[in-house]
Amino acid sequence: MTDQKNSDQATSSEKPWGGRFSEPTDAFVERFTASVGFDQRLYHHDITGSIAHATMLAKVGVLTDEERDQIIEGLNGVKADIEAGRFNWSVSLEDVHMNIEAALTERIGITGKKLHTGRSRNDQVATDIRLYLRDEIDVITEELTRLQNGLLDLAEREADTIMPGFTHLQTAQPVTFGHHLLAWYEMLVRDGQRLQDCRKRVNIMPLGAAALAGTTYPIDRNLTAELLGFDRPTENSLDSVSDRDFAIEFCSFAALLMTHLSRFSEELVLWTSAQFDFIDLPDRFCTGSSIMPQKKNPDVPELVRGKTGRVNGHLISLLTLMKSQPLAYNKDNQEDKEPLFDTVDTVKGCLKAYADMIPAIRSKADNMRVAAKSGFSTATDLADYLVKKGVPFRDAHEIVGKSVAFGVAEGRDLSDMTLEELQQFSDFITEDVFDVLTLEGSVQARNHTGGTAPDQVRAAVARARAAAK
Ligand code: ARG
Repeated sequence: MTDQKNSDQATSSEKPWGGRFSEPTDAFVERFTASVGFDQRLYHHDITGSIAHATMLAKVGVLTDEERDQIIEGLNGVKADIEAGRFNWSVSLEDVHMNIEAALTERIGITGKKLHTGRSRNDQVATDIRLYLRDEIDVITEELTRLQNGLLDLAEREADTIMPGFTHLQTAQPVTFGHHLLAWYEMLVRDGQRLQDCRKRVNIMPLGAAALAGTTYPIDRNLTAELLGFDRPTENSLDSVSDRDFAIEFCSFAALLMTHLSRFSEELVLWTSAQFDFIDLPDRFCTGSSIMPQKKNPDVPELVRGKTGRVNGHLISLLTLMKSQPLAYNKDNQEDKEPLFDTVDTVKGCLKAYADMIPAIRSKADNMRVAAKSGFSTATDLADYLVKKGVPFRDAHEIVGKSVAFGVAEGRDLSDMTLEELQQFSDFITEDVFDVLTLEGSVQARNHTGGTAPDQVRAAVARARAAAK
């Protein structure tokens, strides 16, 4: 956020709505009801919206062309002041909208007071948030794509690396590391789709709804929508000023994205532990301990996992904010901004951290391999082998179960047993059993769309790259 000074210069009588009031606002109430501390972040979009509004008003004859030009020049001057840090944000002017309008009037005089013709802060703020969120969605889309591409590259590099696959966090079957990474990729693809779907409903223009009922001026909403790059104006003025569904949808996208990132984080934390030791995270993504000299902590994944909490919380905040609100605008809606802004900031930060970190992950293939070989990960392969020789699956399951029990007692994996040892459990077992008991044999055998075979991983990466074009 732009770090601007706040001051309390305007007196109550200077308030844009001060006409019907006979005493100044209580000093605490003024601070309590103000939003300028956080909504000044919308200044750029507020000015963009005002320029479009003034342009439209001139087109329909409500403003003269000279008035329009004065207003646009004045607004650009205000923007330059804000960006140069020369702007004094005033709490007594409540919010970003009235601060900018007052500054405009100070610059250009009486014409500045004409800008608000045919609109209200209610449709103005709804428009500002949508313009802001649309831009942020586009930034987030780029960062999400960068992370997705990093995952595809890493998955391709790790297509042949074998690791244990888990269910219940117990060794289940061998998988390729590339395949595991592509599971993460799929989650992010769905997140990207949800975000683009949300953008469609963000990109609709409420301006023109005015306070709640529309306006008596001959406005051209299609023109304003076009000037601002909106797909169309909203349909209903009451809904326009009260609707915050689009912000909730964005937060729901964000909560699910963060939930996914928290799952990735959990696995990265596990894999960097001395007990797993499957991957190395470069030092620049980790920190040390002030007391334990040996420590290298995976802070980035841990913090991303932790930040999921606030993003999930913001979704609940907005849902609860909107619950039971009568039509149309209510001051409650001012509370939409901080959760939304923090969600945007948090998501951008987490995506940046992940997009930078993922390409830097190095697998420790030997350790993964040792882990994949333990825990009888090829037991299902032995059962499938027997089925292919004519044994019913349930019987095969029983035979392999007994072989595993033998292995547990002996402290040996299936592939480390002799043919004679294996044959005590079934006559169907012959020399070729050792082909299926190897890790390579196990992963290569799962050679179909969506399977873990290295060739399937490479094919899936190629398909994903083509689809993303
Ligand atoms: N600061 C307000 C908000 O963020 C702007 C709209 C205020 N409208 C009003 N009628 N008080 O929602």
